[in-house]
Amino acid sequence: MVDEKAINDAKERFGDLVRRQLERVEGLKEQGAPVDYSKLDKLIIGVCGGDGIGPYICASAQRVMEFLLADKLKAGKAEIRQIDGLTIERRAEVMKAIPDDTLEELKKCHVILKGPTTTPAKGDPWPNIESANVAMRKELDLFANVRPVSVPELGIDWTFFRENTEGSYALGSDGFFVSDDLAMDFCVATVQGTERILRAGFDHARKTGKNYVSVIVKANIIKDYPEVKHDVWFVDITTAKLIDPARRSDFKVFVLPNLYGDIITDEAAQIQGGVGTAGSANVGSRYAMFEAIHGSAPRMVTEGRAQYADPCSMIKAVAMMMNHIGESEKGRKLEMALDICTQFEKKLVMTGRNTGATGDEFADYIMETMQRPDLEKVWQGYVDAAIAKAKN
Ligand code: IPM
Ligand code: MG
Repeated sequence: MVDEKAINDAKERFGDLVRRQLERVEGLKEQGAPVDYSKLDKLIIGVCGGDGIGPYICASAQRVMEFLLADKLKAGKAEIRQIDGLTIERRAEVMKAIPDDTLEELKKCHVILKGPTTTPAKGDPWPNIESANVAMRKELDLFANVRPVSVPELGIDWTFFRENTEGSYALGSDGFFVSDDLAMDFCVATVQGTERILRAGFDHARKTGKNYVSVIVKANIIKDYPEVKHDVWFVDITTAKLIDPARRSDFKVFVLPNLYGDIITDEAAQIQGGVGTAGSANVGSRYAMFEAIHGSAPRMVTEGRAQYADPCSMIKAVAMMMNHIGESEKGRKLEMALDICTQFEKKLVMTGRNTGATGDEFADYIMETMQRPDLEKVWQGYVDAAIAKAKN
């Protein structure tokens, strides 16, 4: 016997979800032009360390950021604000993914550097609150999650544009049990949401001359970019082709829905050396947030080795921030230094324990490398050698 009451209750809950999403779409239609950060009188940068290893690697990355922006900070053209309250303890205390006062502080910033935050799972000692990452992406409407991966010796130079506010994440915490036996979850797609992530990917391809976009969803705005080559891929074969040496270096820019983007970018980062090497930019038209693509590794803290956590993902996020705020020269220098220190020269190595460097030592190494007068030449030399080696 089908439980009619369960069906009616579910209809009511579903109706509420539909109403909220229809309201959200109306908001999407009214979006203004994106902020040009390079034109602001004063750029406000919020820094929230998060929890687990977050505060450690974020502090190392902040040192690099302060080094790069020293002139701007001194001249009062940039200000850094420390924003607390994103720890799992505080989030559990107020039972919110982002405490209200923290969100208010975040909204007063232009850009945010954010350390990893613990996402509780069922069975954890923490209450099952929504992920702070996902909440921040939705609250600040950071619709494009941009994740670059490059491995010069494999000919890999990919940029992923992961949709960041819809898909399986839009109602990720609103799925429900219809009956004791049946649970339902929801996936959301809007025309506006799909179009803006596609435009972000195609604009990037056009601007950088990376003239090839692989779309892991179908949509028809691509006619606006006649000069950009594009094709459509299913996600399963994409996971295979990323590890196909004969094919993978052809890919340049990817546009993917939220969950596919989550999975595929971890795979791509692994090819580059692991998730610890990858940073990401979460970009909206008003705010932007820069973070690692990995989690908070609480075990490293309980085992007393958090200072040995690798800050490179967060430092990479700083480079992406520089590019975003109109300091692309600084961003480029930092990216070259990161390549030299982590992929080529490797004078210091991170092992995650006291057999390797601390995060701060590694940050020093990167800052010293950035100041080398022959940085560009050294970097180019290493890249050319790596490419030549790969050809042999
Ligand atoms: C990421 C992470 C998050 C996600 C988690 C922590 C919710 O894996 O940023 O890729 O799934 O988006
Ligand atoms: Mg992920």
